[in-house]
Amino acid sequence: KKLVILISGTGSNLQAILHACRSGQLAAEITAVVSNKASAGGLDYAREAGIPALSLDPAAFSDRQQFDRQLMAEIDNFHPDLVVLAGYMRILSPEFVARYTGRMLNIHPSLLPAYPGLHTHRQVLENGDREHGSSVHFVTEELDGGPVILQSRLPVFPGETEQQLQARVKAEEHSLYPQAIRWFLEGRLALRNHQAWLDNIPL
Ligand code: GRF
Repeated sequence: KKLVILISGTGSNLQAILHACRSGQLAAEITAVVSNKASAGGLDYAREAGIPALSLDPAAFSDRQQFDRQLMAEIDNFHPDLVVLAGYMRILSPEFVARYTGRMLNIHPSLLPAYPGLHTHRQVLENGDREHGSSVHFVTEELDGGPVILQSRLPVFPGETEQQLQARVKAEEHSLYPQAIRWFLEGRLALRNHQAWLDNIPL
C-alpha cells in the first residue's frame, strides 16, 4: 500500500511512520513527502531516506484553490491509498478535502473536540487542565473536526513547560499514528455517514 505524507515542519511523525514501514510494522511504502514550506526539516529527512520529497510555494499561486489543485496533481502522481497529514499547517480547500475524503487522516495535538487549531499545549497549561493528549481523525471540511479514530491521553505534570508537554505528546503520537494507519491499510477502518468505524463498529 502507498502513503503520501504532507508536512510543514520537523517531520518527527513522518520519521515514526517511515520507521514503522521499514521495520515491517506497517505493510506500506511512503511514495512521496510533500510540503508547503521548502525549509521543512522533514523534507531533508525524506530525501536522505531516498523518498521523493517536494515542496510547493503558496506564494507562487494566485489563491488557495490553485495551490490545492497543483498539490492534488502532485499527490495523485504517486497514487496513494492514504494521504497522511503529519504537521501540515495549511488550511485545505473544500475541493481538496472532497477528493480525499475517507482516505485522508490527520493527527492533532489535543483531546479533540477540545482545542482545535493552534497552540494547544499552551491553552492546556493556561487552563490548568490535568489531562492532555493527541487525536488521529479522518479529515473533513471542519478544521480538526473530523471523526476521531484514536486518542492518547497523558497527565499534565505540575510546573511543566509548553515545550516539555509538547515533547511528551509527540512521543505518544509516534506510536499512535502508525497504529491508526495500520488499521486503515488493513481495511478495518472506514468513514461512513460522518462517523469513523473500526471493524464495522462505530468508534
Ligand atoms: C504534531 O504535534 C501534530 O500533532 C501536529 O503537528 C505536529 C507535527 O510535528 N499536527 P512533527 O512535524 O511531526 O514533528
